[in-house]
Amino acid sequence: MNASPTKEAPGRSAEKTPLASVGRVVVLGAGGGVGSAVVTQLAEQGVPVTAVVRDVSRAKDKLPSREGVQVSLGDVTDSASLTSLLQGAGAVIVATGPSSLKNPFGPYNVDYNGNVNVAKAAANAGLKKIVMVSSIGAEDWLFFLNLFWGILIWKRQGEKAIQSSGVDYTIIRPGGLTNEGSQRAPKGGVVAGPANTYGRAPRIKPTGSILRSQVAALAIEALTNPAASNVILEAVTQEGEPERTAAQVLEDLAAGKLPPRGEE
Ligand SMILES: NC(=O)c1ccc[n+]([C@@H]2O[C@H](COP(=O)([O-])OP(=O)(O)OC[C@H]3O[C@@H](n4cnc5c(N)ncnc54)[C@H](OP(=O)(O)O)[C@@H]3O)[C@@H](O)[C@H]2O)c1
Repeated sequence: MNASPTKEAPGRSAEKTPLASVGRVVVLGAGGGVGSAVVTQLAEQGVPVTAVVRDVSRAKDKLPSREGVQVSLGDVTDSASLTSLLQGAGAVIVATGPSSLKNPFGPYNVDYNGNVNVAKAAANAGLKKIVMVSSIGAEDWLFFLNLFWGILIWKRQGEKAIQSSGVDYTIIRPGGLTNEGSQRAPKGGVVAGPANTYGRAPRIKPTGSILRSQVAALAIEALTNPAASNVILEAVTQEGEPERTAAQVLEDLAAGKLPPRGEE
């Protein structure tokens, strides 16, 4: 069975805006794996970034010390801190996640309440774009990760808050996150499908892994690519698939090219 897109194919005729026109990008969870990759890639492209962390000294080594990168303290559970951080920004990329799965309130606080706060602050600040990094399985109650305090259930509630913010959004649901050089590092190119391509029991497609740097590239491309406007996408890598740029991945998705079915 093929997954059907959550909405009609986005406006492929719309022009892609230049990244420079987005303005300052606020990255939440900037000291984390995906967040620090987003900050690094934005800085390499000359985009002004506010890298939001909870502990500056802990995050320092992970973030580039370059002109245009401002490291600021903030917490998504503190709506006042978000209000001031997002003021005057153009877009926000949310790469937060509970730091310890030992805390039963982590998913509620960070994945749900944090995103409620982000949605409100982004709308109040008049942001052009919210990109949220969520997870495959966000609509799959039977996904094993829900054993950790319902983490995917709370991520889905957080997604809904972002979707109803009134701000243009892209929700990226990656598969298992890995880093370059790790044993689990993927071998093929990135493929993406619409919501529930990989989640939901029984699985429509087997899940896979994806590099944090590849997720970061998709998040940055989503800032300006009309194919990512108000879209939920699920992304993994698949062996045998050619390398694609993030722009090509989004455009294939908008054209309705679903990922090839992998081995069950
Ligand atoms: N691991 C996987 O295989 C996988 C798969 C799919 C999706 N995901 C999701 O993808 C996202 C990014 O993953 P990742 O590996 O980059 O995560 P990560 O390295 O754990 O980074 C998460 C970041 O969120 C920050 N954070 C936690 N609570 C916060 C709060 N209250 N306010 C502000 N920041 C807060 C953490 O800051 P501190 O350093 O201060 O704690 C950390 O920097 C997460 O939502 C994760 O759940 C993960």
